[in-house]
Amino acid sequence: MTGLGKLYGVGVGPGAPDLLTLRAVRVLESADVLALPRSSDFGASMAYRILEPVLGKPREPRKQERLLLTFPMSKDPDRVRPYVDAALDKIGDRLSRGLSVAFATEGDPSLFSTFVYVRREALRRFPGLEVEVVPGVTSVTAVPAVSGLSLADGQERIAILPATYGVDDLTEVLQRFDTVVLMKIGSEMPKVTEALTRAGLLDRAVFVSKATMPEQRIVRDLRAAQGERGDCFAMVVVTRGERSGLLVGEAEASPPGAFENALNEPEAP
Ligand SMILES: C[S@@+](CC[C@H](N)C(=O)[O-])C[C@H]1O[C@@H](n2cnc3c(N)ncnc32)[C@H](O)[C@@H]1O
Repeated sequence: MTGLGKLYGVGVGPGAPDLLTLRAVRVLESADVLALPRSSDFGASMAYRILEPVLGKPREPRKQERLLLTFPMSKDPDRVRPYVDAALDKIGDRLSRGLSVAFATEGDPSLFSTFVYVRREALRRFPGLEVEVVPGVTSVTAVPAVSGLSLADGQERIAILPATYGVDDLTEVLQRFDTVVLMKIGSEMPKVTEALTRAGLLDRAVFVSKATMPEQRIVRDLRAAQGERGDCFAMVVVTRGERSGLLVGEAEASPPGAFENALNEPEAP
C-alpha cells in the first residue's frame, strides 16, 4: 500500500530511563507521532515516564505529536474493545496521512504488551502496512538482574505464567520447570505462596515490584508479601537451581580437549 506511514513498536525497558536502547531513542526521536499507552483517561503513561527524561521536549523547529491512548486494564474483551478501536482510529488516521507512528511500550513489545493487539488490528485495517519492532529490555530479565538471580543455565527450562489468569496448575508447572516467572500477580499472592509452600520452594522465590524504578521493592521472604495486591509492575520468580552446571551434558558427550580445540580452530573464511 503506498502513501502509508510506518508503525513502530518500541520497547522502552522496565523502568530506568538509561535502559532504553540506542535504537529505541533514535526511533522515538525521529517518529512523527509518539503514541503513549496509559490505563485510564486521567492516569499517566508509564512508557512516557520512562522515556521523558531521555527525550525531553519535542525538538524545534520540527514538532512531534504526542498521542495519549487509553487501554483499560481488564480481562473483559468487551470492555477493552471500544478503547482499542478508538486508539486504532487515531493511529490509523496518522498512518493514512503518511506519518510514522512510534508506539512506546514498557519492557518489550512482544511480551504481554498492548502493542501485540495494536499491531494485529493495524495490519487488519491496513494489509501491507510496514511494521518494525524495536526490542526492549524486558522485566523478565530486569527482575533477575536486580535480585541477583540467574534465570537459567545448562539444561534448565523456564516457564512464564500470567498469574492473574489463574495459578491452579502452578504445582504441576513447578515440577516441570526449573525456573518459573509469575507475571501479572494481581490478587494471586496467597495462592502462589500456598503452591510454593506445598512444593517446598517458598525459600527459592523472590517478589520484586517496580524493578529498576526508584520505587523498586524486593521481598525475599514471601510470607511477608502475602498481603501484596501486586501493583501493575510486580513479579515472582522461583528458581530451583537443581540442574544448573557448567556445560553439563555437552562436557560429558565431548572427548577430552574438544572444547579447547573448538576454541582454537581457525574461523572459516
Ligand atoms: C502488561 S505486562 C508488560 C510486560 C512488559 N512488556 C515486559 O516486557 O516486561 C506487565 C507485567 O510485567 C511485569 N513487570 C513489568 N515491569 C516490571 C518491573 N519493572 N518490575 C517487576 N515486574 C514488572 C509485571 O509482572 C507486570 O504485571
